[in-house]
Amino acid sequence: MSSTQSKSIWQKDKAHFMHPYTDYSTFHEEGSQVISEASGNYIVDDKGHKMLDGIAGLWCANIGHGRKDMADAIHAQITKMQYYNPFGHCTNEPASELAAKLADMAPGSLNHVFYTCGGSTANDIAMRVVNFYNNVRGLPNKKKIISRNYGYHGSTYFAAALTGIHGTKDSFDQIATDIISYVSAADMYRRPAGAENLSEEDYTEFLANELENHIQQLGPDNVAAFIAEPIMGAGGVLMAPKGYQRRCWEVCQKHDILFVADEVVTAFGRLGEMVASKEIFDYQPDILIVAKGINSGYIPLGAAIFSDEIYEVISKPQSEGGVLSLGFTYSGHATACAAALKNFEILEEENILENVKTLGPRLQEGARKWMDLPIVGDVRGMGFMLGIDLVSNKETKEPLAVAQKVFEKCIKLGLVIRPIVNLIVISPPLTLNEQEVDAILSIVRSAIVEVMDEM
Ligand SMILES: Cc1ncc(COP(=O)(O)O)c(C=O)c1O
Repeated sequence: MSSTQSKSIWQKDKAHFMHPYTDYSTFHEEGSQVISEASGNYIVDDKGHKMLDGIAGLWCANIGHGRKDMADAIHAQITKMQYYNPFGHCTNEPASELAAKLADMAPGSLNHVFYTCGGSTANDIAMRVVNFYNNVRGLPNKKKIISRNYGYHGSTYFAAALTGIHGTKDSFDQIATDIISYVSAADMYRRPAGAENLSEEDYTEFLANELENHIQQLGPDNVAAFIAEPIMGAGGVLMAPKGYQRRCWEVCQKHDILFVADEVVTAFGRLGEMVASKEIFDYQPDILIVAKGINSGYIPLGAAIFSDEIYEVISKPQSEGGVLSLGFTYSGHATACAAALKNFEILEEENILENVKTLGPRLQEGARKWMDLPIVGDVRGMGFMLGIDLVSNKETKEPLAVAQKVFEKCIKLGLVIRPIVNLIVISPPLTLNEQEVDAILSIVRSAIVEVMDEM
């Protein structure tokens, strides 16, 4: 791209594109990084600088970028029937094929798919259905939702309220404070007071007891659902102690509380399995939330997948309180669903989950070697999901806000990572090869060392 074209894009962007999660005060000065091309595991900026995409767009380009087979599938669907109204009794082939496929992949009786436009809207829909479900069951008081500090569930009004990264909501009025409350993050590295020195097993019990006590305080008959990511992603790739998810699920089961597994990041291969909750963490969600990797981000799509038990209750006739009046114009968008079907075909044909199982440990073990560096406090993750916690003091775990500097060095060295204050998040396409895993390992280390040298 010529520098004149580049400048024009930059100026239009600066003047008119309101970017998500952006500090507009600095944005006006610095502008954007313009990404012009993307192919396979790489992206190219407007100056022709090619970089390995260490974050798969934003935890989503699982099969890699710019694939011709995806383009062909999307083209074929558009020329056949790009979109038609999904309301009431009208459907389309890709949406019904995909619903059956998702029901097949989702564990247990998770057989009913409500399509949305992304992860936030899937969480919103889940919460509206939970509300409706308990009203239809004649349990109008069972409405409270328990979420967790540092959990991320999206950016619509209700999904943001579920989100426990409280700093992102400082200047907004808080809504649903009578409904939503939070328990501690499940974080092996920075633990809540009283849990600092517990064994992993005892820490699991500590957190499960906290949940149990919180439910008792609210009154089990008032609590409708618990929402949790299997691994907290945007909160900083926070790893729970072993057995935590299962123990929380048991607590929920005991009190007739629905377990909503937000697998927007973890589903469809990032941890080496299609669905992490059952396969990896051994619990059975009542509602499964998916998005991003569902079609590798080629077209916006999400879904909330409900159990037979919930579906049966909400299927009552209107006279008995039924008829679920909610949904989106683009629920079950034919082209987005066709892209998802192609995505799953590619994942299977190219054995991409096996790739994560093989190379995930190489990435994780390689990255853990950075623990010898004085500012690396913690390296954690699983599969193709990695978090690095930078600290000024390994004893006190004082966060060191230099992730942006590490990011800038990585960009120069040809790698995109995601900086969040003191955290570096890495979540590459699942199609990475061994050399590319090694490139991440060597570039991030060099970048951290360079930042340390300048301190
Ligand atoms: C766990 C989780 N839930 C929900 C969302 C929101 O998804 P979206 O941005 O597609 O609305 C995200 C986005 O990163 C997420 O990580």
